[in-house]
Amino acid sequence: MTPDDFRATAHDLLQFINASPTAAHAVAEVGRHLETAGFLRLREADAWQLAPGGRYFVVRGHTSVIAAIIGSEPLPAAGFRIAGAHVDAPGLRLKPSAAYAANGYVQLGVEVYGGPLLASWTDRDLTLAGRLHLKDEGGGLRTVLVRGDRPLCRIPQLAIHFNREVNDKGLVLNKQQHLPPICGLGAKEAFDPRRVSTLLAEQAGLDANEVVAADLEVVDLQPATFGGLDEEFIFAARIDNLAGTHAVLNALLRVGDPPAASCVAALFDSEEVGSQTLAGAGSRFLDATLERIAVRDGASREDWHRSLARSLLVSVDGAHAVHPNFADFHDPQHRPLLNGGPVIKINAQQRYATSPETAHWFEQCAVRGGVPVQRYVHRTDLACGSTIGPMTATRLGVPTIDVGSPMLSMHSIRETGGILDQESMVRALREHYVG
Ligand code: CO
Repeated sequence: MTPDDFRATAHDLLQFINASPTAAHAVAEVGRHLETAGFLRLREADAWQLAPGGRYFVVRGHTSVIAAIIGSEPLPAAGFRIAGAHVDAPGLRLKPSAAYAANGYVQLGVEVYGGPLLASWTDRDLTLAGRLHLKDEGGGLRTVLVRGDRPLCRIPQLAIHFNREVNDKGLVLNKQQHLPPICGLGAKEAFDPRRVSTLLAEQAGLDANEVVAADLEVVDLQPATFGGLDEEFIFAARIDNLAGTHAVLNALLRVGDPPAASCVAALFDSEEVGSQTLAGAGSRFLDATLERIAVRDGASREDWHRSLARSLLVSVDGAHAVHPNFADFHDPQHRPLLNGGPVIKINAQQRYATSPETAHWFEQCAVRGGVPVQRYVHRTDLACGSTIGPMTATRLGVPTIDVGSPMLSMHSIRETGGILDQESMVRALREHYVG
């Protein structure tokens, strides 16, 4: 039996994933939860008036968000407690002139974003989601989030009769040739290239003639769900890393009275493409925001550097649970289990930022939160993935630990997690903030 509060948190994660087909939707959803909890929205271009105990957040570029609770103690004494995650997920993005007609079909040209498991995108009920940019009265652009509410497109597999070796050799997809989804039937002559944005605009109650640009992605329509004999699993898209995003957000929302340290949630776009973007973890978004918190009320540059030296960062991203059919792909001593609690990630090549000191810190957080921890090391003969931890540690000089909840099928269109791990991660992260 899953304890009720663990099930409730997992259910909340399912709803968060369902509300967040794209990074922009996820950031809007984070903003909605923060505003409901009394966080004040700031703009980077405005002068900030920050007070101890105050709760604030700032969005950059629609797809990254940083939230903070200003601590009760002076920053040079208490420092920042930061938790970070990424909000983007690998997938397929529509090209600017996406729609075309060929061989009697209407299709959509797509680019690959990050490293999806491409075969998992075939033969699924797909739709479109993202942002429409519309002319506003001041001559600028306003951005509206849109999403299809029914299956709009599909990437059909080739019948086995044309590809007899597919089950032995695996499905090989050429990214240019084999990925464009079909979204309709029609002759070239009758083809309307604006049909897609028109349909999404009208569905959102907008005037399609006002649309000047669109950022659209192909997304799975199937809602997230519990699964398994005892509902021990979560089956969903984008568990990597909406689970991390949701955990960081909810840990911050559970910080009660103003804590001694200033608590920061940093949720970044662009991790899946290397983070070197306007609002990615490689940008100055986090350091600029922390600095503005640290040097307010006439505090000095010295205070800012002292504040960083007192700080700690937990980077949360998906971790690889042992796969029962591929157990040999894991180091025998480091095989995390679903529902086994947060995983501390360690790598000698520093693909993860964890040090013995920061690992100890997180273990103590887990003990205080009453949750177990596991450890993960990639097989020595396989190249290890990375995440935002090493990058933020390098930029900020803040001791960092990389952790994540165990999951299967990372970067598949449909991933698997454990029902207990979300609440476990939230509890450990809350202790990081208030401990
Ligand atoms: Co990730």
